[in-house]
Amino acid sequence: MKIISFVTQKGGTGKSSLAVSLAVAAVQNGLKAAVLDIDPQSTAEEWYKRRTAEAPAVHSIPWANLSSRLYRLGQQDYDLAIVDTPGSESHAASEAMKEAHFCFLPVRPSVADIEASKPTVRYLNEHAKPFAFVLNQCPTGGRTSRTQNARMALQLLGGLCNPTLAHRSDHVDALAAGLGVTEFSPYGKAADEIRAVLQWLTARLQRLDATEIADDEGGAIPLRAIS
Ligand SMILES: Nc1ncnc2c1ncn2[C@@H]1O[C@H](COP(=O)(O)OP(=O)(O)O)[C@@H](O)[C@H]1O
Ligand SMILES: [Mg+2]
Repeated sequence: MKIISFVTQKGGTGKSSLAVSLAVAAVQNGLKAAVLDIDPQSTAEEWYKRRTAEAPAVHSIPWANLSSRLYRLGQQDYDLAIVDTPGSESHAASEAMKEAHFCFLPVRPSVADIEASKPTVRYLNEHAKPFAFVLNQCPTGGRTSRTQNARMALQLLGGLCNPTLAHRSDHVDALAAGLGVTEFSPYGKAADEIRAVLQWLTARLQRLDATEIADDEGGAIPLRAIS
């Protein structure tokens, strides 16, 4: 099972929205996926209450129980656990980063978001955790200079998920409806972008596995290939 944590100290960047939509896209690709919500704001848990479908499972838990819950999901043959964290410096975020195989840092193309991510990046570098920024809520209508500047800054700061996500109302409406964007509007651009992020993540995890064959836990377990 792979563990992916969404972290950054800034609220409103899209951690919860991307976590649930990515989990839905993973389920649609045949993966057994769960979301662990360790944010007391419980955005993912509230989303799940509005949902009729059971998968992906969402568990709202105290951060102190994260490790044991992840262990149980691993025992239950989950392929993917996605951890949604609070937008503040906290034990919860640190624990989610420690447990993760890979972290996503959603940021909007704004100097304030990029600057606010620096303590998280420092922590990830100190703990040698692989991560990538996800540029989210970019202005639509072509590549603006603001988005381009943010792309360059984020590449320098440690790496960027190649598909970027535009500001699209599907994210807001899907969250309100208890759906992922790929369910809410399967042929929409937001859905295409989320599927592209999942594909990028899968390729990245496979590359990480290839370089971590001699890992002390006895070999990394690849996420099943995504079509
Ligand atoms: N790409 C996007 N386009 C439009 N709205 C978005 C996008 N990503 C997130 N949002 C919206 O922004 C708000 C904050 O997102 P949220 O996921 O709650 O952020 P966080 O969990 O980081 O605090 C929500 O209303 C969400 O639906
Ligand atoms: Mg949130």
